[in-house]
Amino acid sequence: ERGQYRHYMQKEIFEQPRAVADTLEARIHAHGVLPNVFGVGGDEVLATVRGLHIVACGTSYHAGLVAKYWIESHARLPVSVEVASEYRYRDVVVPPDTLFVAISQSGETADTLAALREARRRGYRGTLAVCNVPESSLVREADLKLMTRAGPEIGVASTKAFTTQLTALALLTLRLAGLNGIDADRYAALCAELMHLPRAIDDALALEPAIAELAARFVPRQHALFLGRGVHYPVALEGALKLKEISYIHAEAYPAGELKHGPLALVDESMPVVAVAPSGPLLEKLKSNLQEVRARGGELFVFADTRAGMDETPGTGALIRVDAGGDFIAPAVFTIPLQLLAYHVAVLRGTDVDQPRNLAKSVTVE
Ligand code: F6R
Repeated sequence: ERGQYRHYMQKEIFEQPRAVADTLEARIHAHGVLPNVFGVGGDEVLATVRGLHIVACGTSYHAGLVAKYWIESHARLPVSVEVASEYRYRDVVVPPDTLFVAISQSGETADTLAALREARRRGYRGTLAVCNVPESSLVREADLKLMTRAGPEIGVASTKAFTTQLTALALLTLRLAGLNGIDADRYAALCAELMHLPRAIDDALALEPAIAELAARFVPRQHALFLGRGVHYPVALEGALKLKEISYIHAEAYPAGELKHGPLALVDESMPVVAVAPSGPLLEKLKSNLQEVRARGGELFVFADTRAGMDETPGTGALIRVDAGGDFIAPAVFTIPLQLLAYHVAVLRGTDVDQPRNLAKSVTVE
């Protein structure tokens, strides 16, 4: 079953180009997102939507956070994202014509399912499930559905489920952008980028040997800090979650701008700091955040877009270049090296990679 791979997690990491391509299959072409991708009546509902509430747990929640950046930027609709265990017990205000979106690999996560049931009472324009299991309770109970086509995910730590959720949410972003007056050239460019995603992930997977080498530096560590800005902040959150789940190293993610508001106090020679450095206007800001880390002796591991002007090796750590394939798909592409890092650190630490202690694949109780 695992074939040439040592663990299911590694196999699933390498299945991502296929899983993402499958999730795009017959849903998008050069002229845009095809009709009826979200189920019967989906396009009519989406045409009237004025805002979104996204709810999920764990890794799926991180996918929702990425979607907030995407949808607000490209469709100009307000989006809130919340963990399901909070959403379900809160007195939520639902503005008119809000779409409720639940994201779940399994479609059986107790809190997410309860949140959907609660949402149905709260008066949304509609409910959409982004899910990997067609026969799941979540899919059965939502009005609209968008299936990720990751195939079965065995490893407890979610990998291909996450990148296929991002793919599905990118399709949702494009559909909403198209309905809300995005410029035609910009729309076409985003579609082309999304169609390139399987290839871009494939290229990122080629970084495995370099990352496996880096991983050794994390093995004796107790803590690690992950930094990102903008849409890459959720990518940092996901990188930290992967590392803590399977290697049992305490990892925290911060938006890089928050560094000096507290976590900088933790930085010394024994604190590895992992940073995602995309191209674009926030790079200069990030560089000065990294300088603050370097000045305190923190070991820096920077994953930098090949197009970003990161030239020098950052102090004692390492600089790894990633071809992000474009700003839109970059969060999905930068996820790959962080998955590989967590995986190889865990392998070197000798943990049970596919079945980390205390965790279950599907959390069907509260
Ligand atoms: C992390 C992980 C969990 C799940 C979470 C939600 O690697 O797997 O955080 O993402 O339990 O599960 P689903 O997506 O099935 O609702």
